[in-house]
Amino acid sequence: MASKLRNIIEDIARDYLNSALTLRYDICTCPACKNDMLAYILSRVPAKYVTTEEGALHTVIQQSRVEHQAVIGRVIIEAIEVISKNPRHKLKEDKNKVFSLLLETIKENRGLDFTHYHQELLKRRIAIRLRANRMETYSEYLRYLINNPEEYDKLFATLCINVSEFFRDPEVWKKIRQILKNIVEDKIKSSNPYICIWSAGCADGEEPYSIAILLKEILKDKTYNLHIDISGTDVDKKSLAFAQEAIYEKNLIKNVDKELLDKYFEPQDNCWRVKKEIRSMVNFYYLDLTGQEYKKNVDVIFCRNVFIYFDRGLQEQILMKFYNALRNDGYLVMGKSETLISEAKHIFSEVDLDCRIFRKKEVNSITSP
Ligand SMILES: C[S@@+](CC[C@H](N)C(=O)[O-])C[C@H]1O[C@@H](n2cnc3c(N)ncnc32)[C@H](O)[C@@H]1O
Repeated sequence: MASKLRNIIEDIARDYLNSALTLRYDICTCPACKNDMLAYILSRVPAKYVTTEEGALHTVIQQSRVEHQAVIGRVIIEAIEVISKNPRHKLKEDKNKVFSLLLETIKENRGLDFTHYHQELLKRRIAIRLRANRMETYSEYLRYLINNPEEYDKLFATLCINVSEFFRDPEVWKKIRQILKNIVEDKIKSSNPYICIWSAGCADGEEPYSIAILLKEILKDKTYNLHIDISGTDVDKKSLAFAQEAIYEKNLIKNVDKELLDKYFEPQDNCWRVKKEIRSMVNFYYLDLTGQEYKKNVDVIFCRNVFIYFDRGLQEQILMKFYNALRNDGYLVMGKSETLISEAKHIFSEVDLDCRIFRKKEVNSITSP
């Protein structure tokens, strides 16, 4: 009997397609659309026929998987894009419209405006909550959110990725130490000995506490009549409450050397708690960078690993607001994967591009681009 031939690329593509479609609640993934996507992929990837009786079928499939992975991956993205934009059937609802409605509802009910956050990132994060609640559509989730407001907390915890670290990116902190030292020296001599530092998007507080520790180290127990104001702000109220408590799991504190740990932390169960002398240097409060007024005359703004959330327009607006919040020559420290865009490139100068440290140009030194 002739053995049956089977196109193993179809098996592989189906497998990859299924995993690419998990958590995609923004497009139609009904069986008909899935089939169309598969057909689209198969029309663009060469077939590979093997007999089902082949003893080494598993190995052949694995080899083909590796061999064709890149091209199938690329074609899958194309297939999803093309088919989801032109499904053969009428859509029951416009998923993107419902998604916008979901964001509008969050804004209205909780005052947090995610409409200018990166949409793809938001969709991926919101998909986690849909899956956790075993839901298939944004409209189902929207109804659930309205009827179960306690879900907001879980949603925000998923949306606000609040991972941080003490002295995150240690090489940046070497540079920051020098900058803070210069600011302290200048302020000691000045008639206005007020130092204002703002950690915007401070998550669980590691960043503002790192700043406070560095300043303590620079001042070496002297005060020089300086008035030091360090603020940590965020939109995640749970993070702010955590930051105020200042208790961190021991294994999550990586970049603090033993001497600083002994000096500024005290053991508490399996954790380290930041000592009161450092805690009392930092004020935490709720501030939504997308809407609220910023403070003025800030010497250094830290806004690290927060811009990843925002679309370009919102980044531009916030950079202008940072500019206005800084004193002349004030510093802006961004995350290692973030940078200045548009107009902001002309109104800030680079202090250290690797460390993403910039400085406000004085108004009269700005030349038109
Ligand atoms: C990844 S953490 C960054 C923590 C810290 N800056 C660092 O680099 O380690 C990002 C923080 O930005 C906050 N965030 C997101 N949107 C915000 C907004 N509109 N206003 C203020 N903070 C925001 C999140 O809640 C989260 O705590």
